[in-house]
Amino acid sequence: MDRRVSRYIHRGKFYVEGWLRTEATLVIAALGEHQQTLGVKGGIAEIGVHHGKLFILLYLLGREHEKAVAIDLFGDQDQNVDQSGGGNLERFRSNLQRHADTRRLVVHQGNSLDLSAADLVRLAEGPLRLVSVDGGHTPQHAVHDLATAEGALAEGGIIIVDDVFNERWPGVSDGIHRFFAERPNLVPFALGANKTYLCRPSQRDSYRDAAAAVASSVTMSEFLGEQVAILQFQRRSVQDRIGHTAIWRRLRATPIGRPLRWAWRTGGRLRQGLTRREDF
Ligand SMILES: C[S@@+](CC[C@H](N)C(=O)[O-])C[C@H]1O[C@@H](n2cnc3c(N)ncnc32)[C@H](O)[C@@H]1O
Repeated sequence: MDRRVSRYIHRGKFYVEGWLRTEATLVIAALGEHQQTLGVKGGIAEIGVHHGKLFILLYLLGREHEKAVAIDLFGDQDQNVDQSGGGNLERFRSNLQRHADTRRLVVHQGNSLDLSAADLVRLAEGPLRLVSVDGGHTPQHAVHDLATAEGALAEGGIIIVDDVFNERWPGVSDGIHRFFAERPNLVPFALGANKTYLCRPSQRDSYRDAAAAVASSVTMSEFLGEQVAILQFQRRSVQDRIGHTAIWRRLRATPIGRPLRWAWRTGGRLRQGLTRREDF
């Protein structure tokens, strides 16, 4: 994985406010890199940017000359009818500058309901290869924004939809069903960590395999009449996560690290003993 992408996933993103699980970032990074291997070209875009938590990752996955279009109401929050997030252009820009740069950035402040696929292609100066749909969460917004993303998609493009299975936002689920009733030339290929992934039917197997390679385990299920990969992830323990950091690897054999290791091991034995007694 590219170093800047990895640094953002494992460190930077924790400093940006928003909604994005680490497991989802790993899948998105794998898909973005897989597109590069396949030679898929095009810009990236997100409808519903908030402070840029996901957008920054998409931006880092983009290449030189690929535009990155950020669409949000930003200062026009009076039009945010369901209060899904609250975009802030200043914070978004400074987050992007801090974790990447703004050279390829194209900002579109406005209501996504007024944006067509042709507008999006014009803003990106061509069709797009990665589009995240995470703006308004009503059925009307979901249907409209999915159609915009679909119409602007490059050959080999992927649409990432947030909250399809989030009970807080049933409108998104309703919207995706309505959108698929129109039989778009798209299929869902995977879902997991609150993201649902769509692509053209011809790329389904290739993208499904790339997404599945990052998951701890995968089961297949039917969704919208198609077989999709359900991506499951095993949460790493705190000990495991700390143990893999560079700072701990430097510390572990020092006079500070040795007593910490002893305390952790003793604590572990105690915890195991307690569990056994409780089980008994
Ligand atoms: C859930 S947040 C997005 C979270 C973001 N993707 C992240 O990575 O944290 C939804 C965003 O959509 C924006 N939004 C809501 N309704 C919109 C609309 N009709 N058009 C454009 N943006 C909208 C809000 O301002 C908010 O920033």
